[in-house]
Amino acid sequence: MVGSLNPTALVRLLGPWNSGALPAYRELADVVRLLVMDGRIPLDVALPSERALAQALDLSRTTVTAAYAALREQGFLTAGQGSRGRTCIPHRTSPVSAPGLAIPEGLTDFAYASLPAAGEVVHRAFADALTDLPALLPGFGYDAVGVVALRKAIAEKYCAEGVPTTEEQILVTSGAQHALNIVLRTLAGKQDKVLVEHPTYPNALDAIRAAGCKPSPVGLPGITSRTSPGWDMDAMMTTMRQQRPAMAYLVPDFHNPTGRVMSDLQRRVLVRAAAAAGTVLVVDETLRALNLDDVRTAPMASFGPGVVSIGSLSKSHWAGLRTGWIRAEEDLIARFVSVRAIMDLGGPVVEQLAAARLVRSFDEPLNERLSALRENREYLLGLLGEHLPSWEAERPRGGLTVWCRLPTPSSTALTVLAPDFGVRLAAGPRFGVGGAFEQYLRVPFTLPPAKLEAAILAIRAAQDKLDAAPHLRRDLATGQPPAVAVA
Ligand SMILES: Cc1ncc(COP(=O)(O)O)c(C=O)c1O
Repeated sequence: MVGSLNPTALVRLLGPWNSGALPAYRELADVVRLLVMDGRIPLDVALPSERALAQALDLSRTTVTAAYAALREQGFLTAGQGSRGRTCIPHRTSPVSAPGLAIPEGLTDFAYASLPAAGEVVHRAFADALTDLPALLPGFGYDAVGVVALRKAIAEKYCAEGVPTTEEQILVTSGAQHALNIVLRTLAGKQDKVLVEHPTYPNALDAIRAAGCKPSPVGLPGITSRTSPGWDMDAMMTTMRQQRPAMAYLVPDFHNPTGRVMSDLQRRVLVRAAAAAGTVLVVDETLRALNLDDVRTAPMASFGPGVVSIGSLSKSHWAGLRTGWIRAEEDLIARFVSVRAIMDLGGPVVEQLAAARLVRSFDEPLNERLSALRENREYLLGLLGEHLPSWEAERPRGGLTVWCRLPTPSSTALTVLAPDFGVRLAAGPRFGVGGAFEQYLRVPFTLPPAKLEAAILAIRAAQDKLDAAPHLRRDLATGQPPAVAVA
């Protein structure tokens, strides 16, 4: 948004702002800050000049100057050298986490593969959501299926991708992880087998185990740095035929951790094989928007009606929205809804209204996000080649991470040592079952180049320490990788 706020409009928005409890400049700054935070003053809007506002409020110019200085210091007003400052929100270079997720100051978090919010877009969506809210306030606020506007927007997005979908085929969830838990508890009983790619997303493995199910791992073909080897269709089909898993959980769109993408041909074969084996195919499309190489693929659901698709705004827009969804046939959605009611009674309404606006103009933040990620990917691959030349790195087609093969099985030992050098890592075995992937490490390229470089140098230093004292590899590899939170 580009514009300016005239003094009369700002005075109206401020209302009776001056209680006299604090110095006037502080109260003025506090109220302007609140107005920016709740969206009543949009972002990137020029505030009135100091002189004009002082006149309109009948204050000394010094008071307004001090209030604007406080806003600048807090990050709510641009520096505005020689011109009028514009509203903004504070830019933080390090993620601010809730207690429990907080990592010590100065430690780079390489265990999370997630981006900060597409700030202005998300902020504006929340501000606009407040204008949509009054229409829903007369209702009870419990909605186990999800706010209609959001379900419609998600259904339209699938239609636009060539998958006819109605809003009745969408269940809104609190993120993809929540969606997977609902699906597991509906479709898989205790002791049932769930086919997974090996490696796969660690929190999915945890959810499968927590539901009392047994992961049936199917290895992905080995790393090559030139071409992406994709999926082993024969192995998948054999596992389905022989083990008859109740469900298969797959990440065909920029797979976590390898960043691979499944071809349309493989999708078609897989959907047919799953239907023949009586296995419900559950595809996690959380990373589908992070299509760095602009690969054209059709959503898995376009190859057969039985596919259950899970989506999320966490990687395309912001994980803090905690908004995801399930797309499936209507009768299955009804079953998911009754299972969901055991866990929670619906998602928060304002988040869903904001999400509806984001989904309606889904691509808005993507250009900028993707070009930064492309640069980061190249930069990280260059750093790995330069500082860790004995590691083999698979070039990801999309997503947020590079899956690396180490020269020795030392992933757990590195993960234990790395925090001493300033980096938190997720060890390879977190991505597999039965202690596999001790010779692998997932490295994210979500951070800006300077931070990537510092982190890779830190890993190099940890690797040097390990090389100098090889017994550490054995002593530190307990068989149980450190239980760090991963995303
Ligand atoms: C494949 C995959 N699924 C699900 C999630 C979690 O998604 P959400 O934040 O929507 O629960 C992630 C996050 O890293 C992911 O990579």
